[in-house]
Amino acid sequence: MSELSSPGGQPLIIDDAKEGVFRVHRLAYTSDELFEREQREIYDHCWLLLGHESEISQPGDFKTRTIALRPIIFCRDDAGEVRAFINSCPHRGAELCREIEGNRSIFHCMYHSWTFKNTGEVHTVRAEDGFTGGFRREDFSLKEVPRIEIYRDFVFICFDPDAPDLVTYLGNVARYIDFLADQGGDGMEIVEGTQLYAARANWKLQMENVIDFYHTVPLHTSYFRFLEGTGADISGGVGGAGYDLGNGHSAVHFKAPWGRPVARWEPRWGEVEKVRLEALRADIEARIGPERAEMVCDWDCNILVFPNLTVADVVALVVRVVNPITPDMMEITQWCLAPKGEPEEARARRLHAFNTFLGPGGFATPDDIEVFEGSQRAFGAHRELPWSDFSRGYYGEATRPEAEVQSDYEGQHRAFYREWARRINGRISDRVDLAALREAAAE
Ligand code: FES
Ligand code: FE
Repeated sequence: MSELSSPGGQPLIIDDAKEGVFRVHRLAYTSDELFEREQREIYDHCWLLLGHESEISQPGDFKTRTIALRPIIFCRDDAGEVRAFINSCPHRGAELCREIEGNRSIFHCMYHSWTFKNTGEVHTVRAEDGFTGGFRREDFSLKEVPRIEIYRDFVFICFDPDAPDLVTYLGNVARYIDFLADQGGDGMEIVEGTQLYAARANWKLQMENVIDFYHTVPLHTSYFRFLEGTGADISGGVGGAGYDLGNGHSAVHFKAPWGRPVARWEPRWGEVEKVRLEALRADIEARIGPERAEMVCDWDCNILVFPNLTVADVVALVVRVVNPITPDMMEITQWCLAPKGEPEEARARRLHAFNTFLGPGGFATPDDIEVFEGSQRAFGAHRELPWSDFSRGYYGEATRPEAEVQSDYEGQHRAFYREWARRINGRISDRVDLAALREAAAE
C-alpha cells in the first residue's frame, strides 16, 4: 500500500515530540481518496459495533442496520443464536428485509418471492422446477458477515475473516466496557427506541468531539445555564484524566457537576433516590470490589472504541455509532443503555437526561453539529489553511503514567489520529518545520 500524502507532498500528520506539535491536515476531512482508503483499510478490517444482545432478546427478533455502508440484518435465529446477514437477496440482490425491526422466522423477498429461514438457508424458491442443471439451493443461502463476536452483550462484527479476535482487538478498552456492563446486577439493556440523525460533516469530527473536554464549557453554555437553574453546583467545571488505551482506543474520566445516575446523588433527586443509590452502590461493590466500584459509581467516563463507537457514560448512558457516508456526511445512531429492572422513576429521569443533554434535539448535540458543519464548510479552504491542531498537553505526555493526560488535553486525539494514519499508511512527519509553517500561514 503506497504512502498517502497531501498535495505538494505534505504529510497528513505532523507529530513532533521535540517541539510538542501535533497537527492533522484538513484534507483528512475532505478527500474522496482518503475516504476510500479509510473504508478499505479501516472499516474492512476493524471490529464494528452491530448492536446489543438485549435488542434481539427473543428467537426471531431482528433489526436492520447499515454498517460500513453494507446493509445488515442483525437477528436471533429460532435456535437462539445471534447472527448477522448481508441484507440483500442472494438471488438477484433485492433488499431482503425492508423493515427496521420485528420478529420473523422467515424472510420474504418481495422481488421474485423466494423465502429464507432466519438461519440463512433458502426456505422456498418460487417455481423451482424452472431451474435446472447446476442449480443448488445451498448456493443461495443468505451471506453471513465473516466474523461476529460478543463482549459483555455488545455484538461486534468484522468483515475481515483474518482479523484478530474481538478481545485482542479491544485490548485495554475492554475494561471500560466492563464498567458499563457492571452497572446492573441483572445485566444491562438498550432502552427501546433509536435516535438516528445526520450531519453534513466528516465522521472524524464527531469522534474527536466525544473525547474533547476543551470545548465543553465554552460551547455548551446553554446546558450549563440550565444546570445552574436546576440547583446543580457547576463551580468546579469539568476536570479529570484521559487515557490512550492503545489501538486507537481511548477514555476520559471526569467528575462533572450533573450527578451520576449510578451512585452520585444530587439533592434535587430526593431522599428516596438517595437510599436507592446507596443500596445500588453496595450491590456493585459486593459484585466487583470497591476499587472497580469507585470507577463505576463516582466517575463519568467517555469511551472511544476505534474507529467509530463512542459511549458517553455521563448524565445517561449513550451508545453512539458514527457511520461515514461520504467525506462530508455522517450518520449517527444512538441508544440509551440502562440496568435491567431499573425503577420506573429512575428510568424516566435517565431518559430525560439522555434527551436533554445528548439527544439530537438536546442542549449539547445541536451545538456540536453546528460546529461540525461549519468546520466542514471551512475545510473547503484546506489549501489556504491546511492544518488542525491537537498539540495541547503534548509536552506533559511522556511524563505521566500509562499515557495518562489531563482530560482537556489532547493525548486521546493524538492516539486516534496515530492509529488512523498507521492504518491508511498516511505519511506522518516527526519533524515540524515551524519557520515554513509560519511563513505559509502569513502568506
Ligand atoms: Fe429476491 Fe429474486 S431478488 S427473489
Ligand atoms: Fe460537545
